[in-house]
Amino acid sequence: MISPKIPIKQLADQLGAELTGPGDAVVTDVTHDSRQAGTGTVFVAIKGETADGHRFIADVVRRGAVGVISEQEPPADAPGAWLRVANAREALARAASLVNGEPSHLLDLIGVTGTNGKTTTTYLCFALAEAAQKRPAMLTTVEYRIGEKSEPAVRTTPEASDTNRFLLQAVDAGCKVAAMEASSQAIDLHRCDWLRFRVAIFTNLTQDHLDYHGTMENYFDAKKKLFDGRLGEAPGSSVVNIDDEWGRKLANEVMQNGQRVITTSQQQAADLVAKNIDVSLVYGTSFELDTPQGNRRVVSPLVGKPHVYNMLSATAAALELGIDLDTIVQGLSTCIGAPGRFERVPHDGDFAVVVDYAHTDDALLNTLRTARDLTDGRIITVFGCGGDRDRTKRVPMGEVAGENSDYVIITSDNPRNEDPLSIISEIEVGVRSKTSSFEIMTDRRKAIFRAVETARTGDVVIIAGKGHETYQIVNEEKFHFDDREVAREALAAVGER
Ligand SMILES: Nc1ncnc2c1ncn2[C@@H]1O[C@H](COP(=O)(O)OP(=O)(O)OP(=O)(O)O)[C@@H](O)[C@H]1O
Ligand SMILES: [Mg+2]
Repeated sequence: MISPKIPIKQLADQLGAELTGPGDAVVTDVTHDSRQAGTGTVFVAIKGETADGHRFIADVVRRGAVGVISEQEPPADAPGAWLRVANAREALARAASLVNGEPSHLLDLIGVTGTNGKTTTTYLCFALAEAAQKRPAMLTTVEYRIGEKSEPAVRTTPEASDTNRFLLQAVDAGCKVAAMEASSQAIDLHRCDWLRFRVAIFTNLTQDHLDYHGTMENYFDAKKKLFDGRLGEAPGSSVVNIDDEWGRKLANEVMQNGQRVITTSQQQAADLVAKNIDVSLVYGTSFELDTPQGNRRVVSPLVGKPHVYNMLSATAAALELGIDLDTIVQGLSTCIGAPGRFERVPHDGDFAVVVDYAHTDDALLNTLRTARDLTDGRIITVFGCGGDRDRTKRVPMGEVAGENSDYVIITSDNPRNEDPLSIISEIEVGVRSKTSSFEIMTDRRKAIFRAVETARTGDVVIIAGKGHETYQIVNEEKFHFDDREVAREALAAVGER
């Protein structure tokens, strides 16, 4: 691997940091996680809400760290070099880029932000780059992948130190394109600062994460930073869904900045438009695609109009990277999207079973509406809510499920340290306010079996909440559990009846 070596003095200059102590040591890595520190590391001490990184300074020095970046004055006994900066998180991002040789400058990086559709859009971008033989890499909620090599994701958008290290590995592996999800929290925490985005994509903005951002305006403003240059550099192009009201606002504001904006829509004039959309649970989705480079009919295995938005975004990004339209249409025809995002569980029966990651009321509504558009049969929904997490969504999710399903089975998600029955009783309040066609089955496996047994010709079983997850967390323990696997077992059991 190319390992750029920067003397600490040079790093301090580039960060605009006030340097105390020796400046000649060579920096080989930067981190804010003391457990990652080793010889040549510069440690960024961040005072977080739960822990203060300054407590670990003695430990990282023992591990061979050559310097500390901090917002605080150096203590009298400061070990080695001390770089005082105005914002430690931003310095972490800048330093991570510099120490890894600015890897985002060495490939075409695509960043995807928005409330829903980030993971799917990132998978689509990866697939289109792969179709064009550009050896892509991606960072997503599900996995971190470089070509064929994949590891499970730890978080949707990693820390800047991990992202830059990953991008350097991708460059070394010969990748010409990388796509990544940029969650609003990550943007707010400076994890995407100083990345050079060739294309930034905005999918949509709906109410979620307001527990973190407070108001929609704050939430929008966090996302907008990816587009307007406040992270250090503005993206080469911005791809924006203008059927979303916040998207329209963003497109206008970014255009007024004199930046390049590509608009996408299913409803109005835009640079890329999808029309005559035909969705089938059996065959997937087809639509007419209008682009500045010509018009084509797209046929995709993905099911649903929300995914047409994701395909429009990925297509626009691919066109910006110079990928030709026929290659894109070919790539779309084979990409099955991200695991657990309206994923159909294949079987021979005459009803459908779908596993979906929807774990907010809004995402659940989208999923159930998509299902409703696709069938004249009944919708049977199985879901629960996670414990030790945002409680306020339990009643609204119950209401959405009750109002938009013909039958609901309330079950457990990841109960964690909460009593599963008490989570369920909160959801029940919402469900009961809309329908009496429901039952409670705490054991998720039994609930999935019940739903599959209940299904008749034309029905759609929606198993929501866990998507690609392959575990269930009960108390502190993580058990193997995969909705798709259990659904297959249930289908096999029904087939034998
Ligand atoms: N463009 C879209 N508009 C609305 N809903 C969508 C869209 N794309 C996917 N969805 C639905 O939203 C949910 C999440 O999809 P996906 O995982 O792709 O989004 P995400 O933004 O990465 O979510 P997260 O923030 O949880 O990582 C799924 O239920 C999916 O069916
Ligand atoms: Mg995601």
